[in-house]
Amino acid sequence: MPSSHEVRVLFITPEVYPLCHTGGLGDVSAALPAALRRLQTDVRLLLPGYPQVLAGVKYKSKVAEFNELSQFLPSTLLSARLSLSKSENIPVFIINCPGLFGRAGGPYIDTFGHAWPDNALRFGLLSKIGAILASDASPIAWRPDIVHCNDWQSGLTPAYLHFYQGKKAATVITIHNLAFQGIFPPGSVVQLGLPEDSFDIHGVEYHGNLSFLKAGLYYADHITTVSPNYAEEIQTESQGSGLQGLLAARRRHLTGITNGIATSDWNPATDPHLARNYSSETLSDKVANKSALQQQMGLAVDADLPLFATISRLSHQKGIDLLIQIAPQLVKIPAQLIILGSDEAGLSHQLSQLIQTYPKAIAIYIGFNEALSHLIEAGADCFLMPSRFEPCGLNQMYSQRYGTPPVVHATGGLVDTVVDCTSATLADGSASGFLFAPITADNLLNTIKRAARAYHNKKIWQRLQKNGMAKDFSWHASATAYQEIYRSLLS
Ligand code: ADP
Ligand code: GLC
Repeated sequence: MPSSHEVRVLFITPEVYPLCHTGGLGDVSAALPAALRRLQTDVRLLLPGYPQVLAGVKYKSKVAEFNELSQFLPSTLLSARLSLSKSENIPVFIINCPGLFGRAGGPYIDTFGHAWPDNALRFGLLSKIGAILASDASPIAWRPDIVHCNDWQSGLTPAYLHFYQGKKAATVITIHNLAFQGIFPPGSVVQLGLPEDSFDIHGVEYHGNLSFLKAGLYYADHITTVSPNYAEEIQTESQGSGLQGLLAARRRHLTGITNGIATSDWNPATDPHLARNYSSETLSDKVANKSALQQQMGLAVDADLPLFATISRLSHQKGIDLLIQIAPQLVKIPAQLIILGSDEAGLSHQLSQLIQTYPKAIAIYIGFNEALSHLIEAGADCFLMPSRFEPCGLNQMYSQRYGTPPVVHATGGLVDTVVDCTSATLADGSASGFLFAPITADNLLNTIKRAARAYHNKKIWQRLQKNGMAKDFSWHASATAYQEIYRSLLS
């Protein structure tokens, strides 16, 4: 078994911060490899060559050509460095295939919100090249001991490797979100060069179709997901998205590891996007961010009104429809509300009606805005996450670090990262937010009211803020847990 600093990991991901990210997977794909590298693991990323990736990396050089993969368009493999900060960068491999990745729009959808029709080929190629680089058929000298896949987009890598006879790396797949499975028609199996008999319940087949994610979960040596509580939930019928049987059968090879956060990017003491920096010792400076935020969003500038906010994909998963439902009562508390999000569920019309009715109390920004997301974490008093399910969630951790206690549905990783405010948890110093269940509009509203009452008790509120700010959400512990899994697979 290689000693820890010799372990080589190919980390395959369809998105990475800051070049291309639609959600938490992008954040994780930068921060986890960086943390593993600090623990002397040689991690390198494999990414699709979207235009923003090709434009955003340094020191690109061609290291291989793939002209003979009969199912796919010809592509080249580039080696480059991705800068995460002035002092930190990660080696990346990029698949340059303009026919599949060189287009405007999102990584998975076009500018009208429709899935790219050739997604099976696009992410089939990502999976296939990942498998080649992880085998003794690789055209490059650097060979990983472990190939670490993420979500459905690299789910076929473990399947390709399973059917490869030569020497190959061990495989890990991380589920960031079981709701997205990469389902394609049965004909894709042969089109992507998988053996016909892999199209079986004991294989890549899922209700008559090919499922990229199921392929990964079936063939990978180890499965991880992004919180211990979600690891349990996905083995049940209500949260298993039809894969609960397979996941329960593989439970000895399934581990929940809570994500960390990039504590240098998300630090209120140094964050360049804030109106004023602050720490738990200078919490009174936080209010300068609240006034700046209220002003920027056109709300009444009022230091005493509790300001609730959320930053999220506006999807069914995130429970934004419930928030829209209770928004008029939230305003009556009285309180203010800010929503920042990209619309995935056609909610823009209802949201704009809310702003028209309550222009000084509710503000909404539709779109992706990194700088605003930082100012909101600092300027809001309380962060809202009424997610129906949440594999881990990052914003509730950012908000605790920013002294902005979260109100969250007691689900998935939110249970593992937020401690409900009660007299007992206030006394033992663990209280850091507000949890509710089951998920109903009434429960959400009542918990928001509970938070508003606590907000007006300055002593309690400060205790909550300081407890959250003192928590260690760094990647170190999670990266160490991943490292242990890699080692166990190699021993
Ligand atoms: P998910 O991956 O399910 O979308 P997470 O909480 O894990 O949820 O991660 C969401 C990430 O995306 C966070 O870093 C969040 O701040 C960011 N984000 C989501 N929507 C926006 C937006 N509209 N503008 C800026 N950042 C956003
Ligand atoms: C997914 C999940 C989210 C998680 C993120 C990163 O998008 O929805 O809960 O934090 O991946 O693992």
